[in-house]
Amino acid sequence: VAALQHASVLADDDGWIRWVGPAADAPTVSDGERVDCRGRAVIPGLVDAHTHLVWGGHRRDELELRLRGADYEAIFAAGGGILASVRATRAASDDELHAATRRRLERMRACGTTTCEIKSGYGLDLETELRQLRIVRRLEREDGFQCVATCLAAHAVPAELRDVPQGADRWVAQICEEILPAVVAQDLARWCDVFCDRGAFDPAQSRKILEHARRLGLGVRLHANELGPTGGARLAADLGAASADHLLAIDAEDRAALAAAGVCATLLPGTSLVLGKPWADGRALVDAGVPVVVASDCNPGSCGLESLALVLALACYGNRLTPAEALCAATHNAAASLRLDHLVGRIEPGLRADLVVLDTDDWRDLVAHAGSPLASLVIQGGRIVARGTTHDAAG
Ligand code: NIG
Ligand code: FE
Repeated sequence: VAALQHASVLADDDGWIRWVGPAADAPTVSDGERVDCRGRAVIPGLVDAHTHLVWGGHRRDELELRLRGADYEAIFAAGGGILASVRATRAASDDELHAATRRRLERMRACGTTTCEIKSGYGLDLETELRQLRIVRRLEREDGFQCVATCLAAHAVPAELRDVPQGADRWVAQICEEILPAVVAQDLARWCDVFCDRGAFDPAQSRKILEHARRLGLGVRLHANELGPTGGARLAADLGAASADHLLAIDAEDRAALAAAGVCATLLPGTSLVLGKPWADGRALVDAGVPVVVASDCNPGSCGLESLALVLALACYGNRLTPAEALCAATHNAAASLRLDHLVGRIEPGLRADLVVLDTDDWRDLVAHAGSPLASLVIQGGRIVARGTTHDAAG
């Protein structure tokens, strides 16, 4: 992280950064809006590279059960968990899903997130998976959010196929033959993800889906080694996936494989906190040369945290990243894992003018005062899209 003191940023009318440098050298412009940041720190808009934001219903009762000791995987095995959200998502109308997701994105943006990856995976049938992805597109086109869509039809085996012989393999085949081709034909996603873990999909099934997705032109990323050492990280390295996410249960050989293959490691410390699981060893990943990303995993079950600013602080306290590593992980590295680093993630000419003006003169207060409403002004594409309660700068 390179910090400039007494700096100015100039953006054009189309929302691109044109110039960055010492305020004293700033080119003079006759028109346009001027925002006086009054010595406050300015960071790039945060990039949340892993969320499951489109869902119906809620799982607050499960949260209470888990806080009393019930096990996340046992709830899922009994037909709750992801499957409960699938029932509620199928039952929700498009407008209900759209309105609920828009409110979530507005709250995330108020905390500093200006780009957000969003996965499907609470449909688990052709129609509802496509509906989820169309809502992402509507949030971009109608509501002006910067989103990236990922098809996660391989989030779980749908209830209809769970007690059927070869049900999981039939679902894998349906994903490959029906769902992914439809997603690609309608240009509804850029990425394909698989929940490769205990109780979900094994590496052979995951490989089949991801290789097929790649042949269809989608990029690949995967949920790996969250619940157990089931081989997901190795598969990610083998496939040269853009990212392997979670990584609680990995060893030094897995880290070396990820580093050699240039796979990003996406840490989701909010999920460790909420599920009471161990923290992924972020320090060891950085030291092994793996590009580390930090994301929220925002979803109705395992982690509902919406503030990526809070999650990046957890990555310091839990995953043992330095504040600079955590900020880079939630901005530039996150953008790189989504192949968007030519557009977002840094404050540099040629990139989008996505900026967060903090209510402090030192960005490390994001970690020191984790959870405080420090985003006093959120700027996306050169336009102010959120104002915090603490902002008093003249417009
Ligand atoms: O990333 N691990 C799989 N999917 C989500 C949890 C989804 C849910 O519980 O609804 C995750 O943690
Ligand atoms: Fe996830």
